[in-house]
Amino acid sequence: MTAHVPPIAPTRKVFVKSYGCQMNVVDAQRMSDVAEAEGYESTETVEDASLIILNTCHIREKASEKVFSELGKLRELKDERRARGLETTLVVAGCVAQAEGETILKRQRAVDIVLGPQAYHRLPELLEKARRAPVVDIDFPEEDKFDHLPAPSLAATHRRGPTAFVTVQEGCDKFCSFCVVPYTRGSEVSRPAAKVLAEIAALAGQGVVEFTLVGQNVNAYRGAGEDGAVSLAALLERAARVPGVGLLRYATSHPLDMGADLIAAHRDIRKLAPFLHLPVQSGSDKILKRMNRRHTSAEYLAIIDAARRARPDLAISSDFIVGFPEESDEDFNATLALVEKVRFASAYAFKYSERPGTPAAERAGQIAEEVKIARLAQLQGALDRQRLAFNQGCVGMTFDVLLERTGKRVGQFIGRSPYMQSVLVEHAGAALGATLRVKIARAGPNSLEGIIEG
Ligand code: SAH
Ligand code: SF4
Ligand code: F3S
Repeated sequence: MTAHVPPIAPTRKVFVKSYGCQMNVVDAQRMSDVAEAEGYESTETVEDASLIILNTCHIREKASEKVFSELGKLRELKDERRARGLETTLVVAGCVAQAEGETILKRQRAVDIVLGPQAYHRLPELLEKARRAPVVDIDFPEEDKFDHLPAPSLAATHRRGPTAFVTVQEGCDKFCSFCVVPYTRGSEVSRPAAKVLAEIAALAGQGVVEFTLVGQNVNAYRGAGEDGAVSLAALLERAARVPGVGLLRYATSHPLDMGADLIAAHRDIRKLAPFLHLPVQSGSDKILKRMNRRHTSAEYLAIIDAARRARPDLAISSDFIVGFPEESDEDFNATLALVEKVRFASAYAFKYSERPGTPAAERAGQIAEEVKIARLAQLQGALDRQRLAFNQGCVGMTFDVLLERTGKRVGQFIGRSPYMQSVLVEHAGAALGATLRVKIARAGPNSLEGIIEG
């Protein structure tokens, strides 16, 4: 007689796709942690997933509209799966979810759950509710979502590699006149220092070596400590002392919050990478004022000078917007002049995108698309030349490089220099997660190639 074999439940799988910033990368990981704790297995193959989560970005119109074209394709996938007797739950999370709420259900009826960035710890109950009818949860709950999230499993941490983002601060109170973030993410909230340090210690215990502390305005961090508020500089100092921590980074900062202690941290904390991403957006004081950035270009340059005095080899990176309302040729030239003064190691440039609900979108003096395109190309050209020059300046230098990923070729690994450039090395016997001494032999526009020194 054969023994009774209980039916095996088919494995439920979750697929998460994330757009946008580093905050969203962390949120996507935390949502897969929640789903895994509910018995789902993570997959990279969307066709296999019974739970599909799109973690969306609302920052520019293109990013936002991409979501709806993606949802159209997912509706077809859902229909095909249903024809095979397989149910699929479709979740829209992130900043488009927060901004559009119910509208998403109206525009795409295949969506089951609309979930804001502050509510995803409630995913398990929402999955239950969505079995009956579509649900929207875009509350900013009182409770701290981080207190209700499962820690990542060892398998999840290993899958994500030896680097990790840790959210230390969320939200934004700056209200730059072009930006949706203060509306989609709410006001600035810092996590208590002890909780951040405990998370870093746990991840370091799972083998993570390099940590990037992230927040929309990470240098405005003011987390509760045992005796008063802890600044980002103090948090970095304490994080550097956690056993297993090899290298620290932080992103993204606002010039107004670039305090003297954080600048000094670049001189004093050996484990803090010599890299500063400090968005300036424009070099014109008129435009900076209209953007509500609350600093001048001279003040920005003074911060960069001070930071370079503290750490002479500091690599500087930034974000720019071209074609903001009323940006004249003269204003744009002021941006090019600032770029020449700073000599950026890398930078992102964007065409201004009118975002619903932001003050700048309502203004007169919107700039024609072809002017935006031409200015973007010109600025990008200048930034590309600076990046290549910076990369070429690294030839002959030797860095400690953490092997983060495998490359396309067998035995090839990719890591990053302390200055954030991608570094390619070949080493048949090396393993992911190892840190090697690498001498830079060649530099291209987007990466460096190195040889192992020992
Ligand atoms: N908190 C971060 C920025 C988040 S958004 C900071 O202040 O640095 C990332 C970048 O997107 C911004 O720095 C800005 O350059 C760009 N951006 C934001 N809103 C935009 C808009 N409406 N159009 C074009 N670019 C925008
Ligand atoms: Fe947006 Fe400005 Fe806040 Fe950055 S600081 S998130 S650009 S409002
Ligand atoms: Fe995008 Fe939201 Fe980040 S709008 S840039 S995902 S905070």
